[in-house]
Amino acid sequence: MPTAMKIAIVDDERDMRQSISQWLALSGFDTETFASAEDALKQLGPDYPGIVVTDIRMPGMDGMLFLRRLMGSDSTLPVIMITGHGDVPMAVEAMRLGAFDFLEKPFNPDRMTELAKKAAQKRRLVLDARSLRRDLSDGSTLMKKLIGTSSAMERLREDILDLGQADGHVLIEGETGTGKTLVAHALHAAGNRAGRNFVTLSCAAFEEDALARRLFGPVEPNDNRLPAVEEARGGTLVLEDVESLSDTVQARMLTALNEEGTPPETRIVAISNMQDEGRTCEDALRSDLFYRLASLRLIVPPLRARGEDILTLFTRFVEQFAEDYGCEAPQVSAQEATQLLQAPWPGNVRQLFNIAERAVLQARRGTGTLTSLLMSDHEDMQPVMTTEGKPLKEYVEAFERMLIDNTMRRHKGSVQAVMDELCLPRRTLNEKMAKYALSRADYLG
Ligand SMILES: Nc1ncnc2c1ncn2[C@@H]1O[C@H](COP(=O)(O)OP(=O)(O)OP(=O)(O)O)[C@@H](O)[C@H]1O
Ligand SMILES: [Mg+2]
Repeated sequence: MPTAMKIAIVDDERDMRQSISQWLALSGFDTETFASAEDALKQLGPDYPGIVVTDIRMPGMDGMLFLRRLMGSDSTLPVIMITGHGDVPMAVEAMRLGAFDFLEKPFNPDRMTELAKKAAQKRRLVLDARSLRRDLSDGSTLMKKLIGTSSAMERLREDILDLGQADGHVLIEGETGTGKTLVAHALHAAGNRAGRNFVTLSCAAFEEDALARRLFGPVEPNDNRLPAVEEARGGTLVLEDVESLSDTVQARMLTALNEEGTPPETRIVAISNMQDEGRTCEDALRSDLFYRLASLRLIVPPLRARGEDILTLFTRFVEQFAEDYGCEAPQVSAQEATQLLQAPWPGNVRQLFNIAERAVLQARRGTGTLTSLLMSDHEDMQPVMTTEGKPLKEYVEAFERMLIDNTMRRHKGSVQAVMDELCLPRRTLNEKMAKYALSRADYLG
């Protein structure tokens, strides 16, 4: 066992709980004992880092009610029940309620250890999956990489977490520069293949023969890698620009997929860029292959469809570049913010990313304006924008969020300084921060 797993031993008989405890401690468990179910319940929360062994017959709350309570707060907690001789119907009922297993008194201590180890293994899997999920969803890894607070982005993050746990192949569709490749990475990181190989291959970057060799072998004599399907085995194989696969390679891909069992050992994440053109990925691929690859689908929406992310992304990119180039991040005026929100962004996040870099370089030189950058990048961009076509509320909110976010960042989370600078009472600031999902903890230090 990597770290000692806790084990709560609940029995009203002192000798019994102590001998169980000693025995399990010898097997490497971190044991704690409780004389009653009531006492144990005070300590055992839903994320208890261990398992439970409990007697059934106890004065006060008996083992059955105790089990019900535990299952009510965490139905995955493994509970091993100790039954008296002849309590078989009770044991059956306990199993039905979700007990991990039961031991009939008098029991063989080795059997107890064996069961406890199995239960601990199950517990560890659940806790690991939970902490991974929490890491990913609570702001850390995935949230930090996939910036955006729009509901479309929130949904995408949730879908990634769900599909990360699933087994089927995934098709990711979206316009150029929307973040499809980033999503493919996140999908791999969110699943149980996270520690395995992650291989990406652009199907459009190779001639047909070279692609077939890179995928299935034999590899070029000077290439010391395995063919991609071998290299990715057990992990994720990303096929970028999947719509450009030739008929021959499609046929070989289908054969390779058919040779895999269910669930497939290797997950294929196919990426298609064709959303913006008339022809879809479905038209471009033979349908039997398409349906295999598209068993699960994710669509990454274009930037213009998630307007409120524009300023968040822009601010974050500008800060990153300012740090890279060692200069102050340029501030965005209300007019510039409006223009950022109104630009059509055909190149999506990548285009925004590039403009952010140029804006920082300009600011460092002390020349040019964001407006001129936007106008040179978007042909039909007007120097002064109107809010025509989009609800005013969307602009106001996006701008408000950006201002608070910027100011919090500059003052490293000092609420007082932000209140002073923006002339906001504490309560209003708190309300707005809650509304825009801004958390003071993210700005400290
Ligand atoms: N939500 C996001 N948060 C932060 N950065 C993002 C986000 N979406 C995209 N990016 C960044 O934008 C750039 C383009 O993203 P990415 O390469 O994943 O797009 P793509 O859809 O795969 O593009 P292409 O169609 O050209 O393959 C990258 O630098 C990426 O890190
Ligand atoms: Mg890409």
